[in-house]
Amino acid sequence: MYYPDELIEEIRMKNDIVDVISGYVRLQKKGGSYFGLCPFHNEKSPSFSVSPTKQMYYCFGCGAGGNVFTFLREYEHYSFIEAVQELAKRAGVELPNIAYTEEMKQKESRRARLLEANKEAAKYFYYLLRGKDGETGLKYLHGRELSDETIHKFGLGFSSKYSDDLTKYLKGKGFPDDILKEVGLSTIDEKMGIHDKFWNRVMFPIQDLNHRVIGFGGRVLGDAKPKYLNSPETPIFDKSKNLYGMNFARTSRAGNFILCEGYMDVISMHQAGFTQAVASLGTAFTSGQAYLLSKYTKDVILSYDSDEAGTKAALRAIGILKEAGMRGRVLNLEPYKDPDEFIKALGKDAFQKRLDEAENSFFFELKILERGYDLKDPERKTAFHREIARKICTFPEEVERENYIEAVAERYHIGFESLRSMVRTEAGRTGLVSEAVRPKSGIHKKPTREENEKKTQRMLITAIADKPALFKVASKYVSPSDFTVDLYRQVAERLFDDLAQDKWNPAAIVDLFEDEEEQREVASLFHTELLGPEDAADRAKAFKDILIGVKSASLEKSSASLGSDIQAITQAVAAKKALEELKKISIDTFNI
Ligand code: UTP
Ligand code: MN
Repeated sequence: MYYPDELIEEIRMKNDIVDVISGYVRLQKKGGSYFGLCPFHNEKSPSFSVSPTKQMYYCFGCGAGGNVFTFLREYEHYSFIEAVQELAKRAGVELPNIAYTEEMKQKESRRARLLEANKEAAKYFYYLLRGKDGETGLKYLHGRELSDETIHKFGLGFSSKYSDDLTKYLKGKGFPDDILKEVGLSTIDEKMGIHDKFWNRVMFPIQDLNHRVIGFGGRVLGDAKPKYLNSPETPIFDKSKNLYGMNFARTSRAGNFILCEGYMDVISMHQAGFTQAVASLGTAFTSGQAYLLSKYTKDVILSYDSDEAGTKAALRAIGILKEAGMRGRVLNLEPYKDPDEFIKALGKDAFQKRLDEAENSFFFELKILERGYDLKDPERKTAFHREIARKICTFPEEVERENYIEAVAERYHIGFESLRSMVRTEAGRTGLVSEAVRPKSGIHKKPTREENEKKTQRMLITAIADKPALFKVASKYVSPSDFTVDLYRQVAERLFDDLAQDKWNPAAIVDLFEDEEEQREVASLFHTELLGPEDAADRAKAFKDILIGVKSASLEKSSASLGSDIQAITQAVAAKKALEELKKISIDTFNI
């Protein structure tokens, strides 16, 4: 560690993990913990939990976990030091200047180099667009009715028709092959060697919130395929957490965002004055993007194509927005395909009118749903109404449900009371609150002896972490050296040490490990609840068995490797005695 431990500790204490993570994930309290949708994998029901007492998070779905520093490392792709600095700033803690280690410098400077390469590339593309080689590109953009001002604002450019032009240029500027490859500007293949990823395309630099170029989209001039090429994901380009146009849209005062599919749509809308427009990056809309938007406003107007694929994407996006606690509305641009075409054809006033008329996403969902039912058939009609009732059940608040019952009853000519009673029936059947999911158990196969050993040691740590009062008696029989798995032993050493001094700070234990995999494992140790027996006596017995299990495995291991070393033999004898005693004591001892 490069800052003193006490300072790290102070920063951690001043940054409550629930507060910090709430800035990224919508959390809801359930019992002693908070649950939300995991930002590290795609899921529909929340399995991501944050514990305020342990100051740790853990996802039961994908196993992501750690303390507040781990979270920023994983979410923002920060280094440990960056995470410390960010949280120090957040809590107003002043940091001393530190000397960077060589490794840290390298990691930092690598990211900086990748950003620099993109910046140089963007400048070069920009320059080409205005020169002889870029004539066709500029003509194309003008043909699409973009003004020079707009072209400038979005930093549009052109990649030359020679397939290694940019690579040569950047190499000339001192960027080595591996940087160019890692940032996705050059591709290396056996036949052609190193060459440009983008050529003969108009170039759309993709910027982060701070206007730094993190990637590119490139469009062909004609009808060739693929129409758009995009930079790959890189250490500086995370497609699930950035949005095209967000660097401008975030300061728009519109009070809403318009979410669409295309770069050209965003640019057209901005040009027409709708500076709240953003687009996803050639990939489906994600919950990370929803949380990014939700920091500014909860009102999002969706503008997706009206074809089947677009409708499907819109429905998915609506679900994601809802989970993020946001309100979705759906724009109808018929008979035009996208905002760009609409604005070109009918102008901005007509577009504003459509924005004002954008429909509540719930009614949009119903409209799509309705397509699947023949409403002339009474039976199908009832089924449709039941489905509506089921959907209304998903609104968490009573008053919201009532309002929807009223609005839907009116629109679909259903009796208010009959719809209401239908909602009640469906609520009873489905259960209103969705439960946090537990991980599904994997394929059943007999665990090996080693796995069993590992599991018992795991359970012991989990049990003590869950009920620190067990520590006193446990430590009479078991010591950290009884843990044969390295990671568990390290955790136990610190845990036993802390508890012996009446300290209880599991989040600090995470920092003993640099590796994110290890941090996850530690978080999982502390996040598992022993879902064991209901009955207190059975639970006590289970705990005793765990202790015996750990002790005998350790004894067996040490006897096997026993030499003639007197000290080792004495130890083994003592351990054996402890085990015998342990077996004899009453389970009441563990009745906590
Ligand atoms: P569209 O095919 O709807 O194109 O793709 P568009 O935005 O209307 O483009 P123009 O008006 O023909 O120029 C929407 C978005 O999907 C991604 C791009 O992000 C694009 O802006 N896309 C599309 C790709 O990444 N690759 C493709 O080949 C096509
Ligand atoms: Mn278009």
